[in-house]
Amino acid sequence: MKNTFYVTTPIYYANTIPHLGHLYTMLVGDTISRAKRQRGIETYFLTGTDEHGINIERAAQKNGRTPKEQADYVVRYFKQMTSEFGLDTKHGGYDIFMRTTEPFHYEGVSELWRRCARAKTPKGNDAIYKGHYEGWFCAPCAEYKTEDEYQKPKNEGDPPTCLIHETPLDRVSEESYFFRLSDYDEALLSVFESRPDFVRPDSRRNEVMSFVRGGLQDLSVSRLKTSVSWGVPVPDDPAHTMYVWFDALTNYITAIGFGNEERQQAVGFEKFWPAMHLVGKDILRFHAVYWPAFLLAAGIELPRAVVAHGMWVDPNGRKMSKTLGNTIELDVLHKHFSNDAIRYFCLREMVFGQDGRFGYESLIDRANSDLASGLGNLSSRTLTMIARYCESHIPSRVIPEDKLLLAKRTGVDTDETTVAGFIELARDQFLMHFDNLAFSKALETAWSVVARVDKMITDAKPWDLAKDPNQAQTLGAVLYRAAEALRWLSVLLYPVMPESSRAMWSQLGLDGSPAQVNPVELKWGELEEGAQIGDVQPVFPRLDKGKIMSQINTGVEAPTVTEPEPPMKHATEADAVGITSFIEIDDFAKVDLRVGQVLSAERVPKADKLLLLKVDLAEEQPRQILAGIAQYYEPEKLVGRKVVIVANLKPRKLRGFESQGMVVAASYGEEGRPVIATFTEDVPNGARLK
Ligand code: MSP
Repeated sequence: MKNTFYVTTPIYYANTIPHLGHLYTMLVGDTISRAKRQRGIETYFLTGTDEHGINIERAAQKNGRTPKEQADYVVRYFKQMTSEFGLDTKHGGYDIFMRTTEPFHYEGVSELWRRCARAKTPKGNDAIYKGHYEGWFCAPCAEYKTEDEYQKPKNEGDPPTCLIHETPLDRVSEESYFFRLSDYDEALLSVFESRPDFVRPDSRRNEVMSFVRGGLQDLSVSRLKTSVSWGVPVPDDPAHTMYVWFDALTNYITAIGFGNEERQQAVGFEKFWPAMHLVGKDILRFHAVYWPAFLLAAGIELPRAVVAHGMWVDPNGRKMSKTLGNTIELDVLHKHFSNDAIRYFCLREMVFGQDGRFGYESLIDRANSDLASGLGNLSSRTLTMIARYCESHIPSRVIPEDKLLLAKRTGVDTDETTVAGFIELARDQFLMHFDNLAFSKALETAWSVVARVDKMITDAKPWDLAKDPNQAQTLGAVLYRAAEALRWLSVLLYPVMPESSRAMWSQLGLDGSPAQVNPVELKWGELEEGAQIGDVQPVFPRLDKGKIMSQINTGVEAPTVTEPEPPMKHATEADAVGITSFIEIDDFAKVDLRVGQVLSAERVPKADKLLLLKVDLAEEQPRQILAGIAQYYEPEKLVGRKVVIVANLKPRKLRGFESQGMVVAASYGEEGRPVIATFTEDVPNGARLK
């Protein structure tokens, strides 16, 4: 059996700049190819652009460019996207960014056409014939529309409109080459029946089968050059330009060497074909019906599979569109979120095959709960405790015989196989889901490991064990298990979150990269005792939801993510219960907290959140302080109240008033409800808090 794998994304139209939908299919392809490579399979990953056809020609005209200039312009954005999101070759992503304007592609498509033109259908007819086409064509869909696929015009004489794009269709009435698709229904159905995995998921397979059962019409596969000139000329009949889908689909084989000796030498058609095609459900028919039919005609092996994913819609379930203003812009995503958080969210949130809702708020929530508080916190607390209790060396996994009883008495499960067995099983399930492209389930399984190890730590209470020298080895064994679990998680999660997995890996003090470890071969206990761990850094910074959302909503520039916190050298119990960042006492001393008394409080005109306070800190003058608490506190009720003030905060202007300090308050709940800190005992104004 071949130890190679070939995965493709659609090649994207070079008429508009990329958005989340394009990014999504690419990152699924990237994840799959990393997973295959990690398992020692030589993998080829293709993405690229579809650069011919009337659609691109019109976009070029509109922008005052030649079609090639238009394609180059859009390709620059795609390349920028793949670089920023870590999907290009340099970052271990795609192997080729395919462009249909490449001369080798012309050669390959021409070869495929010739083969089809020579072929007989399963019913013994010519697979390609010349005829006359009359009908309606949608340029943005690059597809002819039948009566049930367009909206009839309101005024007689007007053209009908596309149901998807709501734009007028073009009347085409001209000589055309046809592909005799109608002769391929039985052949295709027998493929779908004999290969249940050919079209995935099942729901899509059923859809495609019923489409084919409904009867196939021959497909117009050329346009007169006088109507569409931007494309590949039909071999031996240059008055015709090939239909853009015939041209585009063929990229999957020309990229690896079909019809061109140089590419064949460089990559190898036989080596990598057949491919797994990843597509959005919007273009399933082209991939699951037309493409296999062309290949059958040309006598070329069919793809390994055509896998259709759902579409991203907005949080309210609406299709994303520029007019509704609900699209997810890539520059906003890139500015505020790490690549790994985006990858995790996309793969966790969209049940593969179904539509998924994409909202910035849910992305922030997931990044904070699953990544920062979940996996990130497990990693930080484990390593911080190893740093503190084990002098930064991976402890031994063994609890000596004579310490077992004591360990058990303090609630430690002394049997290592309990947690090891759990993780081994989870690994198997994770890989099974992954291979079924059920990424969401796979990630759920990985997070069951996070929860299990968290529980193990909570049950064993390492911070208590650390107080008893007799429990030193037990403490070490517990921390070993947590660290070993993290090693496994770095390997499993590498294809989904390459950067963070590498960070976790090197913090564990491991050499090489999780990319080089085959998850199938992971063995419990191979984390080396005595090895020194690396610098402990939070892997997933917490995102400030309020701040990011207000920046996104107001379009204010912001750094991509909050700066990672400084490394932690010492650990306390707090690490173990989830506080992952520490400051020195000197850092705290920099904050001048004082007791103040509210002398007056009033609302600020036109600012429904702000109160203007005068606060006595026992200084010469009372301070003027603005506080964003007006929705929760009646001004009158605050007068006379003792509060805590950050007294050395740099003054700043809000709504034209200078604020000379800040009132300290707790903040809780979704909307960050403030509760002012106060004293239950008598305390003089100006007293310092330390
Ligand atoms: N050029 C053709 C494909 C030719 S492949 C031989 C094309 N291009 S496209 O630019 O319109 O890209 C379509 C693909 O982009 C979809 O199939 C899907 O992979 C991705 N997506 C576009 N919008 C999307 C969403 N809203 N959600 C998820 N993916 C989407 O069709």
